[in-house]
Amino acid sequence: MLRLSTLEAWREFAKSQRASGRTIGLVPTMGALHAGHESLFDAARSRHDLVIATIFVNPRQFNDENDLRAYPRTPELDERAALEHGVDCLVEPTLEEMWPEYPNETPTTVSVAGVGDILEGAGRPGHFNGVASVVAKIFAITGECRAYFGEKDFQQIAVIRQMVHDLALDVEVVSCPIVRDADGLALSSRNARLSDEARIRATAFSRALANAQSHAASANEMRALMRETLEGEGIDVAYADVVDPVSLESTSDDEAGERRALLAGVLDGVRLIDNAPVMVRARRG
Ligand code: PAF
Repeated sequence: MLRLSTLEAWREFAKSQRASGRTIGLVPTMGALHAGHESLFDAARSRHDLVIATIFVNPRQFNDENDLRAYPRTPELDERAALEHGVDCLVEPTLEEMWPEYPNETPTTVSVAGVGDILEGAGRPGHFNGVASVVAKIFAITGECRAYFGEKDFQQIAVIRQMVHDLALDVEVVSCPIVRDADGLALSSRNARLSDEARIRATAFSRALANAQSHAASANEMRALMRETLEGEGIDVAYADVVDPVSLESTSDDEAGERRALLAGVLDGVRLIDNAPVMVRARRG
């Protein structure tokens, strides 16, 4: 596995590989890799001649200094996971390489209005500007490719798709299913920060979604049901919403059809999110 850290070497490598006719599968990450990331490597591996993974803990997408400081870093394990899951090139740029002016001057910012302003965007101001800006840069350096993202960050995928569309970037975004632990908890690098007791209560997220999926209910009934399940475990709910899967606009209570349920809440000081497809029925009467 080739390891690179400079933007120039990364750009040249991707360019030369494409020139030799190879297709590129790109997996951008912030490290602390788990089976969810590994499933993205596997998906990219199955479709491409070359898999490039990036690891960069992007400070611009953290609206909370403590969250950035507490973000888990596991470089040796990450390297092994990338190697074992067929990554050909692991790029780990330094902060000086990616954002040389940061934090003294704010570099160019990509802001995806609409889908980037609601839900996580409203609760974590600046978060999606940081995500879109770093992903735009990662795409610009890599060039034409397919890029793989996990559906646990469902809104992140919607924001990136909108950005790719609006800026006509030469990248196809591929979304991959959420990977869950046996008890239903969606894998996340943040789970490592939960106490044993909070880890058990965190299963309320997947239980809330399963309840919503198994009840024929209107959008508002689903919202109430999911909120109740989360609050029952002492989770401070940021939102429990039912939305259009593309625009992420809230579903009104008289609509029916396939929607996405999105949850966010704070448990033990750790912000967790989860989501699932749901079928809503129109409110009766
Ligand atoms: O999902 C992540 O790990 C990050 O938001 C991403 C897409 C790598 C951008 O920093």
